[in-house]
Amino acid sequence: MAGAAAWTSWDFLQPVAGQAGGPIATVAPDVVPTESVLEVPAMRGYLTEAAGEVVPLYWKCPHLGCKVPWCESSGQFECPCHGSVFNRIGEYRRGPAPRGMDKYEFEVIDGVIVPDTSKIIRGAPAGTAETIDEPPRGPECIDPTLE
Ligand code: FES
Repeated sequence: MAGAAAWTSWDFLQPVAGQAGGPIATVAPDVVPTESVLEVPAMRGYLTEAAGEVVPLYWKCPHLGCKVPWCESSGQFECPCHGSVFNRIGEYRRGPAPRGMDKYEFEVIDGVIVPDTSKIIRGAPAGTAETIDEPPRGPECIDPTLE
């Protein structure tokens, strides 16, 4: 229920302000989750891992810019503004977003993941096949009919 309250907070419904840009030191690669995500507010995004590779995602929805929250119960990102849905590594699933979530370029420096928030890699266009086999694992956090 606490999660549901968070979904309706005004914070999630606001467009994300302009990106400051620059390298942000985060965490060591071995603490990045492989079946969930780690939210890192300093980089305005999330860290996750797939096939042994760190994936640093920008939380701004590629539709109209709302922050896209992670839904732990479904194991996917679900935008509360107009219902775009993305898998754990930000690949497009459904909704009005034109592409998957954007990612940051990053380096590992002295054992720490350092995404560069000024260097954004655009997500793949909607309709591109997903590269991980992780269907929704439970109830979604948003109304599935939301658009
Ligand atoms: S801003 Fe995310 S679906 Fe519209």
